[in-house]
This record gives sequence, structure tokens and C-alpha cells, in this order.
Amino acid sequence: MTQKILITGASSGIGRALAYELADRGYSLALTARRLETLEDIRDDLKAKHPAATVVVHSLDVAAYDSVPEVISTCVAKLGGLDILFANAGIGLGEKVGKGRFSEARQTIETNLLGAMASVDTAVEHFLEKGQGHIVGVASVAAFRGLPRSSSYSASKAGFAIYLESLRAEVFRKNIHVTVLYPGYIDTPLNDMLPSRPFLITVEKGATIIADLIERKVKSSTVPVWPWCILGRMLKLLPTSVVAKL
Ligand SMILES: NC(=O)c1ccc[n+]([C@@H]2O[C@H](COP(=O)([O-])OP(=O)(O)OC[C@H]3O[C@@H](n4cnc5c(N)ncnc54)[C@H](OP(=O)(O)O)[C@@H]3O)[C@@H](O)[C@H]2O)c1
Repeated sequence: MTQKILITGASSGIGRALAYELADRGYSLALTARRLETLEDIRDDLKAKHPAATVVVHSLDVAAYDSVPEVISTCVAKLGGLDILFANAGIGLGEKVGKGRFSEARQTIETNLLGAMASVDTAVEHFLEKGQGHIVGVASVAAFRGLPRSSSYSASKAGFAIYLESLRAEVFRKNIHVTVLYPGYIDTPLNDMLPSRPFLITVEKGATIIADLIERKVKSSTVPVWPWCILGRMLKLLPTSVVAKL
């Protein structure tokens, strides 16, 4: 049967590339983000490539928490159900602590952590009613270790990963799967200004890997798996003197 997925942050980068990958695989899609016109362009392009595909678009600011349940419910109704939530919307502003940029740190937590939690909360309500579902949350390798210029970002991603771990235990034996993804560097506008992006992969390759991991319903994985499965563990062990130079 056709799988129905709702993607947050579908107007760019990983979310956008995953929409194309999953359309190729025959999924029905609900695409959300703040930029509705961009989503409409993506929908038109997808429909040109796959005329029979179901592609719903809806503007959604995940940090406008009160609007999240209504928007997700509208998408679910238009899709005719929901099998998978891809909680992906996120920002990375790279601010430093104590430099007058607290508002950016707050925005990061509001989007990456609270906005993601609001999305998951609504989807889980649908899944509990239906008796099945799959939550896929996008964390980051920055969740493994607090890195310089990444305090709020690392905190948001570590918080989201732990939140999803708790959820997995809550929905144990309820036929609801929970996948936590930890991408390394995937080439998107989020990070294309950085001077160094070790082990960078294209966004198309990232989307293929992510689609395979979703279909395997893995509990958690780095993206790509190798070398970040090892590097992620190493990050935790590095002394602060080394981390400070990163
Ligand atoms: N690229 C990487 O190497 C990498 C590594 C680790 C983790 N990640 C994570 O992967 C996710 C996707 O990032 P990306 O690299 O694809 O970045 P991106 O190209 O900048 O895309 C970010 C997406 O999030 C959406 N977004 C941002 N704020 C939002 C809000 N308040 N409400 C709803 N949507 C919002 C954006 O859409 P609008 O602006 O239209 O709202 C956009 O579609 C993020 O959670 C990021 O932290 C990425």
C-alpha cells in the first residue's frame, strides 16, 4: 500500500531532496515549511514528473506551536491518513555564547527542539488512534558532543534525540516505530557557508540513505552510517583542548 509521509522543512535541503526520493518510490507526500510558494513550485515539479502522485503542500511554522496540530491534521485529512512523520525542520545559526546573540539561541531551541516536539506530539496522537505509525526525527552528530559555536544547536539536537528515546519507550508495543537520525555534513544551505565540512555528501545521496533507513525502520543511525558511526563515538571521548580547536 502507498505510504503516506508528512515532511516538515520540505522547502529546502534534506526535506526537499527526500520528497523527490520518496516520490520516485511511490509515496504520497505532505510537504510543509514556512515558504509556501517554494513548496508549490516543488509540488508542481513533482506532479510533472509523477502525474499520479499525491502531493499536498501547506505552510507551517513549527515554532508557532498552537498552529501545528491544526496544520498537521489538515494534511492528514488531505492525504487520507498518515504513516510517517519526518520531523526535519531546523536552523543552525552558529552563534557564540555571551556575544549578545541570545535571541538566536532561543530561536534555535524554539524551532529545532520545541517545534519538533510539537510536530511529533500531534503525529503521535494520530498514530495512537490508528494503532500504528512511524516517527523519524532529524538530530545531528552535533548531538553527540557540545561543539564551539554550536551550543544552542547541539543542545536542541541532543534534547530532541533524548525526547525521541523517551517516546520510543512510551510507545513500546504500540506498533509505533521511532527512528532518530544523526546526519554528519550533507550539502545544503544550512551549512554551505562553513569553511570546512568533513566527509560531505550530496543532498541527493543523503536523501537516498535516509529513505533506505526509514524503510528499514532503524532505531537510530548516523547519515551516512560510515564514518560517522565511529566518529560520533570518538567525539564523546575527545578532550576539551581538542574540541576547542574544532
Ligand atoms: N545539512 C546537514 O549537514 C545537516 C546535518 C545535521 C543535521 N541537519 C538537520 O537537518 C534538518 C534539515 O536541514 P537542511 O540541512 O536541509 O537545511 P536547510 O536546507 O536550511 O532546510 C531547512 C528546512 O527547515 C525549514 N524551517 C526552518 N525553520 C522552520 C520553521 N520555524 N518552521 C518550519 N520549517 C522551518 C526551512 O523551510 P522554511 O524556511 O521555508 O520554513 C527548510 O525547509 C535540520 O533539522 C538540520 O538541523 C542537517
